[in-house]
Amino acid sequence: MEGERLAYDFDTIVDRRGTGCMKWDGMVPLFGRNDLLPFWVADMDFRSAPEILDALRERVDFGVFGYPIMTEAAREAVANWEFERHQWCVVPSEVDFVPGVVNGLIAAILAFTEPGDGIVVQTPIYPPFFSAIRDNGRRVVENPLIEAEDGYRMDLDHLRSVLTPDVKAIMLCSPHNPVARVWTKEELADLAAVCIERNVLVFCDEIHQDLVYSDAKHVPLSLAAPEIDPLLLTLVAPSKTFNTAGLASSAWIAKDKKIARQMRTTLDKLHQARLNLLGVAALEAAYTKGLPWLEAAMRYLEGNRDFVGAFLRERLPRVRMKHPEATFIFWLDFRDYDMTSAEIQRVLIDRAGVALNPGVTFGAQGEGFARLNVGCPRSRLEEGLTRIAAAFEKY
Ligand SMILES: Cc1ncc(COP(=O)(O)O)c(C=O)c1O
Repeated sequence: MEGERLAYDFDTIVDRRGTGCMKWDGMVPLFGRNDLLPFWVADMDFRSAPEILDALRERVDFGVFGYPIMTEAAREAVANWEFERHQWCVVPSEVDFVPGVVNGLIAAILAFTEPGDGIVVQTPIYPPFFSAIRDNGRRVVENPLIEAEDGYRMDLDHLRSVLTPDVKAIMLCSPHNPVARVWTKEELADLAAVCIERNVLVFCDEIHQDLVYSDAKHVPLSLAAPEIDPLLLTLVAPSKTFNTAGLASSAWIAKDKKIARQMRTTLDKLHQARLNLLGVAALEAAYTKGLPWLEAAMRYLEGNRDFVGAFLRERLPRVRMKHPEATFIFWLDFRDYDMTSAEIQRVLIDRAGVALNPGVTFGAQGEGFARLNVGCPRSRLEEGLTRIAAAFEKY
């Protein structure tokens, strides 16, 4: 444990201010000021794995930054990771690349749907799911999650009712941002059955697949229901897992050759089929050497999760949180205060001096919620929560 502490340090405060990072330097557009303690956009305040930093240093020391190709080694790194970590048997030829998962989702929308088509999202949902659909002239079809006492569930009866013939795809978030659910094999198989019955494509965003806590197990959709493969495109990335989002390297996996061909053609047309050189180096190092760091990071994040749970129970009992099974972004329920999202934001910003994503940006179900990013040293998390508790005391 001591050795691990020395090798992988998550407690040291890294001062990111003035480094051109969105989380610390880019708060003005959403929050009106830049002097808040940020718990919003989904990256972490930790330095990435030393194994990744070494690989990047090696590329930088080499000093030539010409056009890269997407190597077999990079495809193998993704395929091996999926097998070893998720028991999903992927062969390297089923893997390809895209500079960002949202870029990949947009490419899939363009590749497989027509303007005016409906695409399902399960709300509340990561906001770019809405904009990816709307900004490309497609129609958002909402299938709100069911909020049960013990967690959120998919509403497959409602899903069936919205699947009219012009609805061509569903964008699945697995695990789900922002409610931090890890969908079970059974839930995924049931969803796949509906999609097969109605011939609906699935664009499956598994960017959070590696950030799963010890009491849950992620199952890739293709593994839960291999019969969905002819309708399935899966997106994965080391970016959330290893805190390398700024390097914009992601991968997509399609077992069906027709799906793969169509996606590749669209990415070529968009000139979006290649990663940048440092992104490739980081991706390969993450997936081949990053596991010990990730295991340590997950233990630390799980400590943060449990810390938040205990803090809310003891100091902020009117703010509720359903037990997060995954991700470092948690969905806080402030509805007991009977305030609008805008009013909650005013208290968080003006009185607590913290930046949390406003719930309503995740859809109408987000009214009364805010999303908290716990990807930071525990001392900072404690400071933020203490400020929130003090600010809400008088309401
Ligand atoms: C579900 C989900 N998809 C995609 C992204 C962003 O991916 P990228 O930065 O690779 O576009 C995020 C970031 O928070 C996310 O939560």
